[in-house]
Amino acid sequence: MTTTPLPRAGSAPGAWPLLGHAWQLHSRPLEFLNSLPAHGALVRIGMGPYPAYVVCDPDAAHRMLTDSRTFDKGGPFFDKARVLFGSSLPMAGWREHRWQRRQMQPAFQPERIDAYATVMAEEIDRMTAPWRPGLRFDLTAALTTLTLRIVTRSVLAAEAEDEAVAAVQHSLHTVIDGVYQRVMLPLGPLYRLPTPGNRRYRRACTRLHRAIDGIIAERRASPGGDDLVSMLLEAHDDTGAPMSDKDVRDQLVVMSGAGFETTANSLAFAFWLLSQHPEIEKRVHEEVDGTLAGRTATAADMDGLPYTRSVVHEVLRMYPPGWFFTRVTTADTTLAGQQLPKGTALLYSAYLLHHRSELFPDPERFAPERWLQGGGDAAPRGAHVPFGGGNRKCIGDQYALVEMTMALASVCARWSVHPDPGAKMRVRVRGTLGPGPLLMTCRPRGAAADG
Ligand code: HEM
Repeated sequence: MTTTPLPRAGSAPGAWPLLGHAWQLHSRPLEFLNSLPAHGALVRIGMGPYPAYVVCDPDAAHRMLTDSRTFDKGGPFFDKARVLFGSSLPMAGWREHRWQRRQMQPAFQPERIDAYATVMAEEIDRMTAPWRPGLRFDLTAALTTLTLRIVTRSVLAAEAEDEAVAAVQHSLHTVIDGVYQRVMLPLGPLYRLPTPGNRRYRRACTRLHRAIDGIIAERRASPGGDDLVSMLLEAHDDTGAPMSDKDVRDQLVVMSGAGFETTANSLAFAFWLLSQHPEIEKRVHEEVDGTLAGRTATAADMDGLPYTRSVVHEVLRMYPPGWFFTRVTTADTTLAGQQLPKGTALLYSAYLLHHRSELFPDPERFAPERWLQGGGDAAPRGAHVPFGGGNRKCIGDQYALVEMTMALASVCARWSVHPDPGAKMRVRVRGTLGPGPLLMTCRPRGAAADG
């Protein structure tokens, strides 16, 4: 696909003194991001008092993502998150990242994902077991419980009924929302005031840390497992030094945090979109009837579910849960024809790139067929980046795709879910994009129910 090149660099209008564009990014982030390509391939904005460039051009995004040494993790927003999440994998600088990723990659090999898929199937069945015809419930909440249970059982290798896992599940949301707020609205000392919100956040951090420390202590006491916690406890950096307990805890907090809201929100968007597009829902039903005949999907079913997978890809295009990330230049360089001195902050947004009509025609249309028969390959490189790219690409991408395809297919094999007539969905922008609570009623599938 060819695209008309954008003018090189520009500046976004409407910056406020000291706040820059922080208010626009906080109050109407998606509209603000989508307005930026009109100003150039690289658009200068103010993130609070700090300037940063938003990458609006896919080629430039590709170059930035694949040269992770020049465009390293960093930037003012990021540095605040680092204070909270330490030097865990998504936060680590280029040098540390290499050895950390090497140590953790085995936990995401295909055979491990097959093993996690057993947990996924059990949890999908557990979620749907109490469903009855006409039951009306918050589907987003149910999916969040589903993915939290899956990630804690697979990543922390702990039983979902454990007290520690329950504590992780209860605290993670509050911690993630709190981090997002502190990063996006940098109000410094105000976060130290004893307000109910600040106290809730601090309590959740303490509870989360204690729970994960307990899991680490247990695993230290009985070493030798092949799960991620055991891998981290046995990991050594290039100098032979092991990870401290705090480093292991940071890795586990971030991994659990990265691995549940993203997939839960994407699945909730998927069910909402199917409920609004009966012709697409019908095609999914036909496919799952042929492949699953009413049973729960397994990892081995992926090849038999091409249309369901294309629905997942299209949902990730329309509503990429990770909607913006930052980088910082580690040397003087040039991007999209613009000279950038060392220390320049950059920002890329999958949402912005996925909604450019030059890259994805009719971008607001839900069209899974874009991804059938290599359709996705027609998009320019760097244009479709729900999982990022280069060696910082999401380590859980295959895990997430299998989990989402299995959950979508297994539910659709037996149920269809519908909102109240006239209900609206409003995209909620926090640390991840989500649809907010979705009240849905479930109907059993079957000739009569489907008709
Ligand atoms: C739909 C689901 C998911 C989406 C859309 C997603 C998206 C992303 C994106 C865009 C990045 C790159 C960030 C950047 O460029 O700065 C990333 C990194 C990461 N993700 Fe995911 N993610 C998902 C699920 C998961 C899951 C299930 C896990 C783990 C169980 C996970 C763990 C991570 C980790 C650890 C990183 C850092 C990788 C590195 O820097 O080497 N993610 N994710």
